[in-house]
Order: sequence, then structure tokens, then C-alpha cells
Amino acid sequence: MSTDKKADIAVVGLAVMGQNLILNMNDHGFKVVAYNRTTSKVDEFLNTSAKGTNIVGAHSIQEMVDQLERPRKIMLMVKAGSVVDKFIDSIIPYLDKGDIIIDGGNSNYTDTERRVHALEKKGIYYIGAGVSGGEEGARFGPSLMPGGAHAAWPYVKDIFQAIAAKTPNGDACCEWVGNGGAGHFVKMVHNGIEYGDMQIISEAYQFMKEHLALSNDDLSATFKAWNKTELNSYLIEITANIFAFKDKDGNYVIDQILDTAGQKGTGKWTGINALELGVPLTLIAESVFARCISAQKSLRVEASESYPHKIAKANTKDHDNILNDLNKALLFAKITSYAQGYMLMQEASTIHNWSLNYGDIALMWREGCIIRSVFLEHIKKAFDANPKLTNLLLDGYFKALIIEALPSARRIAAKSIELGLPMPALTSAVSFFDGFSTKRLPANLLQAQRDYFGAHTYERLDRPRGEFFHTDWIGSNSNVSSSSYNV
Ligand code: 6PG
Repeated sequence: MSTDKKADIAVVGLAVMGQNLILNMNDHGFKVVAYNRTTSKVDEFLNTSAKGTNIVGAHSIQEMVDQLERPRKIMLMVKAGSVVDKFIDSIIPYLDKGDIIIDGGNSNYTDTERRVHALEKKGIYYIGAGVSGGEEGARFGPSLMPGGAHAAWPYVKDIFQAIAAKTPNGDACCEWVGNGGAGHFVKMVHNGIEYGDMQIISEAYQFMKEHLALSNDDLSATFKAWNKTELNSYLIEITANIFAFKDKDGNYVIDQILDTAGQKGTGKWTGINALELGVPLTLIAESVFARCISAQKSLRVEASESYPHKIAKANTKDHDNILNDLNKALLFAKITSYAQGYMLMQEASTIHNWSLNYGDIALMWREGCIIRSVFLEHIKKAFDANPKLTNLLLDGYFKALIIEALPSARRIAAKSIELGLPMPALTSAVSFFDGFSTKRLPANLLQAQRDYFGAHTYERLDRPRGEFFHTDWIGSNSNVSSSSYNV
């Protein structure tokens, strides 16, 4: 079936994501070369899902490169880390100046920065593209977040925007993100937000199961109902499905799953970057730690025996009010989490000179990806209306939602502490919000303590910023202050 015309792009790595992206590209009229290091996978693919399509195979890098239109475009769909470097090294000898390598894995953005610059010196363009949406997204429309060598964008734009998910208005969920590692940074933040969304949903689940004694069917119905509110999103939708799902013996699968969460690292990287950049990304950080504490199952079992406690049950007549509060509390936490995620991107954009377009980022996340939701449309509107918006919590639409949801969030957070039900993400959202919206925090005392024990100096309310003072707290008559070093 394949035509004689040269291929538009090659994809290296025929695991499910690679295969599905190739099939998606083929559906959109692009000719794709499929290559895999274990070449039997190439034949297997050509003889099964790719049979009867325009997809061609390659059994060596030379064969792959020879089949490509110039500038050659080669997309790596391989495991993040050293495997990417090994593939780059093995492909480079076959390439010419102006050719393009794209990494579609979950690479750490610092690796992408390094690769963009190293390949630039060889005249090769490198793009680090965040790809979200799992297997189904890859097959029928992922969210794509490309960044790196901008000069390469015109050559891949048509392919990427054709295969990407589309918003209800028909816009592609794919735009150029920025230079260097910007694409992979934005994908990392997407994943961090994904961790936060999943955690607040899981906290609500535990609250409803333990305090309200809801059955799996009730839980499924509740999430289904919530999916018709502002919480409408893919993650709420699949949660409703999960609670209704039974195995062939009629048992709910959810109740058979061990309560220890895995993680591949992107949430952790988001937290690490927030600490490094000094951004209070508390909800996502708590979500990563919640996975860590879940992984300590045997310790938790032991501790639960040392500190036994029963979760008090709510009166059924209060259920409707509590469920309404929970719905609002989730919305409150979600807005706070996205505001924190955007704060991280804003800080990184300034430091790396990425000029990120926050409206476009919301557009890229609107469909196709794991955090896709109607909610993102409002974030897009907020940043489109004011690209210089300093914080999502200060946008009029979100401010109104926060004011409405805050009392509910406070009631649920307080109740969870009273009951002994862990809700680290929700309670962190409330605490963050209170810190964020408090004019005078007790940091004057921190400064006094630092100055007292270490002569670290402080600024004064009655003096201009940037002037530093030291007090001789213990009458030592020493005027020596510590050298200023701020992280
Ligand atoms: C996506 C997802 C995906 C991620 C998985 C697992 O956008 O399609 O974010 O990239 O790998 O969700 O992540 P964890 O194993 O860290 O939960």
C-alpha cells in the first residue's frame, strides 16, 4: 500500500505510545517510517496494526534515514533518561545539518536543555515535546507541548497540530511552548498538576467512604454528578467509572487494589523545581509526599495498631450538605493547585527567558491530556484577557469561585483534622490560601530569630527595601553581621 514518496517523519520506539502516534500520523495522511532497536517489533507492527496502511518499516538507522524527506524528522518515543542519549548518539552520524530530532518522552527538562544546546553545535535541531494523554491520546489526539529549537517548528508544526487533540472550537491542543527545555518543563508541571488533581479526588473518596459510609455505587454516582459541575474533567469521569467497575466474579476491582501508589518521577521533579525556584507549590508537593507515605504500608499498619482510631460517621441527614461542601472544597483546592502550578511556570519562564504563553498552555491542556477539563477554558480566558495576570487567584472569575467555595473548604479541612482523616492536599490548599491572602505574616519573628542567633540581618518597615539592619540582641557589642546569602 505504501507510496514511493519519501516519508514525512520517522518514529523510533514501537512500544504502545510510539505505535499509536504512528497510526495517528498515518490517519492524518503523513507517511511514517517505523523503527525499533529490536527489529522483530518492526515486522510485527507492519504485519498487525500497520497492515494495509501507508506506514513503512526500517531495520537499521541507515534504512530509516534513507527513507526520509529532508530535513529529516525523527521522533524518539523511548524511555526517558540515558536511552535517549544513546539513540541520539547512534542517529547523529547519519544526519545532516538542519535535520530534526524530537524527543516525545517524559524527559527531565534539564536533559532537554542540554541536548538542545549540544545538538545546536552540530547544526541539528532538537525538540523536546511533552506528550500527554496515554495510549488513547496518542492514538486519537494527544496534547502536545513542543519546545527547543524554534527554527525546527515550521517543519513539524503541520504534523503535530494535525495529530493533536482539538478543543470544541477546533483549535489544536499543540502550540510552540518556548526554547530550550520549555516543552518538557510545561509537561512536567502538567504531571505535577495531575498528581494534585488525583490526590484531592482520592482524599474526597476516603472522606466519603469513611465518614459518610458511601458504597462504591454511591461513590460512582457522586463523581458522575460532580462531573456535571465545575469539576467536569477526564479524571472525575474515570473515577466515576472506576467505582462502578466489577471483575468477572462480580467484585469491585477498587477494593482489591493495594493502597500503595507508584510514581515515575515527574511529580517529584515538579516539587524539586518549586523548592529550587522558591515557589510555594504546596499542594503538588503534598501530593507527592502522600504517595510516599502510601508506599510505607507496613509501617502504617504498625502505626495504626499503636494509634488506633475510629472515624466517626456523619448523620445521614447531613449527607447532602457535606457532599455539597466536598464538591466545593475540591474546586477550591483545584483552583489553588493550578494557581501554584502557574506560579511555578511564571517563575521558570522569567529565569529561563522562555516567554511562556499561559493562555496557550491552558489551550494545550484543554483536551487530549490527563488533566483535560472545561476548567482550563477559564484559565485560558483569564490569561488571554490579561497575559500579565500575576496570579490566577486574582482573576475575577476565579476570585468569585474561591469566595464561594472557601467556607466549604474550611469546613471539610477542619472536619478532616477533627476526624483524623488525612487530607494533606486539601488542608495545604487552605493554609496556602490563608498565607497568600494575609497582609502581615509572622516572618518578622523569623527574621528577628535569624538575626538573634546568626546576625543574618533584617529589613525594616520604616526603611526602604534593600537596606539591612542588625540588632545587638545580647549586648555583645559586636557589629558584625553575617554575609548576605539568599536562596
Ligand atoms: C500523561 C501522563 C503520563 C505519566 C503517567 C504516570 O500525561 O499522559 O502524565 O505521562 O507517565 O500518568 O505517571 P506516574 O507514574 O508518575 O504517576
